[in-house]
Amino acid sequence: SIVYLNGAYLPMEEARISPMDRGFLFGDGIYEVIPSYAGKLVGFAPHMARMQDGLDAIEIEYQVDQDAWRGIAGELMERNGGGNLGIYVHISRGADSKRHHAYPKGIAPTVFAFTFEIPPEPRADKSSAAPYSVVTAEDLRWRRCNIKSTALLGNVMHFQQGYTGAHTETILYNHAGELTEASACNVFVVKHGIVATPLLDHQKLPGITRQILLEILRRDGSIPVQERVIQKSELEDADEVWLTSSTKEIAPVVSIDGKPVADGQVGDVWLAAQSLFSAHKF
Ligand code: PDD
Repeated sequence: SIVYLNGAYLPMEEARISPMDRGFLFGDGIYEVIPSYAGKLVGFAPHMARMQDGLDAIEIEYQVDQDAWRGIAGELMERNGGGNLGIYVHISRGADSKRHHAYPKGIAPTVFAFTFEIPPEPRADKSSAAPYSVVTAEDLRWRRCNIKSTALLGNVMHFQQGYTGAHTETILYNHAGELTEASACNVFVVKHGIVATPLLDHQKLPGITRQILLEILRRDGSIPVQERVIQKSELEDADEVWLTSSTKEIAPVVSIDGKPVADGQVGDVWLAAQSLFSAHKF
């Protein structure tokens, strides 16, 4: 595939970064994953805004130029044959001459992007939905999970806890038994037709799919939505549980810790929500 590295387009095999890059040594960087279907990007502006927030939060001096990035994304999609592609964007603090914890001055960030194939655009259709089986675990990550850092070891270890194959995840709860998110998704719980998702704070990523879904549901008005504290125990008698992320949109969860969610089938509120999302996401 063709990748973008520090201003140049080149084959992946030819892309080179320094082993002294702080992204490599410290996980000192910010990333984004933006989905695209047939060349159309979903949530491009909010993804770029979140990347700027992350860079600012860790004081990497880089101004995101959205027009330039639209151009880079378009070029990468074209050079990689189009279709259903995720655009991965990674900006690390850059390579220093020595390994020292302090933020070095005067080094240039490393700017990298590549595309990868993602599943076809999800359809609002119960028979083609990918039902997820998840486990739950205490969230053992750090307390700045709102920053989309490339330091993902905590997420990787949590993902592995639930991993038995495709369509698995680990839903996380904090020391107080409150849901935070999943290892690479946000989480939603449906009870009596009301859709709820945990409030944003430093314990979870402000997901763009979450944000777009909340906007669409609120604008439509037919399905009530809440952002509130959700207890882990609410998973046990939920009518539906969903995961959201850029590459899966809204994924229905049908099994948690080996027990079915309600009747173990994909739910009607999921169908209504995914229909609205499919119609209005761009
Ligand atoms: N993961 N929470 C975490 C910890 C995530 O890593 C992600 C996304 C989300 C959902 O955010 P969004 O809707 O903006 O994709 C929530 C990406 C896709 C990844 O790491 O591959």
